[in-house]
Amino acid sequence: MPVTYKVLTPHDLDTIVSPRGEFARAVLLGLSKHEKSLPSRYFYDDEGSRLFQRIMHLDEYYPTGCERCILENHRDDLADLLAGEPFNLVDLGSGDGSKTNLLLSRFLERRLSFRYVPIDISEAAVSEQAGRLETTWPELEVRGIVAEYFDGLLWHSRDGSRRNLVLFLGSNIGNFRRSEARTFLRTMWSLLADGDLLLTGFDLKKNIDVMMRAYNDREGVTREFNLNLLRRINRELGGSFDIGKWRHYATYDVFSGAMESYLVSRVEQEVEIREINQRFHFDPFEPIHTEYSYKFLEIDIEELGADTGFLIEDQFYDDRKYFVDSLWRVEKPIA
Ligand code: AVJ
Repeated sequence: MPVTYKVLTPHDLDTIVSPRGEFARAVLLGLSKHEKSLPSRYFYDDEGSRLFQRIMHLDEYYPTGCERCILENHRDDLADLLAGEPFNLVDLGSGDGSKTNLLLSRFLERRLSFRYVPIDISEAAVSEQAGRLETTWPELEVRGIVAEYFDGLLWHSRDGSRRNLVLFLGSNIGNFRRSEARTFLRTMWSLLADGDLLLTGFDLKKNIDVMMRAYNDREGVTREFNLNLLRRINRELGGSFDIGKWRHYATYDVFSGAMESYLVSRVEQEVEIREINQRFHFDPFEPIHTEYSYKFLEIDIEELGADTGFLIEDQFYDDRKYFVDSLWRVEKPIA
């Protein structure tokens, strides 16, 4: 018999690994662990993105209101920094873009020359937002990208001629573990050019009751948002999760400094997931870890920026100091 072998290239893999395949692998990996977990990035299918937009309207979910105030109070500072040359306003995880509208409206009023580049993994979110923008501001140039953060940034950065202001709002950075946040920022730095700006939202450490209420709202929208992960497994991977047998649990871990979300099995149960050809057993009270939402101190933010190649330009706080939008400048040595 002739012996042959095949060297798999990333291109070969691209043709067989669809986004759905990626979700399937993440589910297999997470539910095979002794301490089961599912990555929070899979919250945001079209349904999950809609639920998160409802969360942003809840009274208890303070980050959105804080950040709206911050952007309203400081959008002219940003405009002053950017005036004079054309730039890109890149919006990572743009969602419905309601906070970004505060910047867009002012930048347009001030006749700044820019294009808006929303990047989100939900196609519905990007297309619905693009539609609304077209009606409100027909003169605005929009180049939406449906992709993961870095795939989107990489695609965008091929056109490297203009300065970028990258928005990473809402404390999305809190979903990363501390070491992942550093890798994320280093990758961001490498994709940007000297002088580019990054505006990142950080949720700050505060009264624990305030944080607990934000992730345990009375209306139960956060519960539905969390449970949507199981519904998504049912929809996309032929899962048999009985949603009534699960409860939402969110708590502040004082050691990690994060709000952490779980789905807890109410009973002993078996769940079948056809697409990955698996059955998983859950004990009564057994949790699936679904999300970290890290909370920060000022000193954490300063360290993070300095360690990943950025210069901290400014810190924009709300009046209660619940939240900060931190403005960083990319610093690269002259080649
Ligand atoms: C969108 C990641 C910032 O962690 O606060 C809201 C998501 N989870 N309620 C957060 C979320 C539960 C949110 N981020």
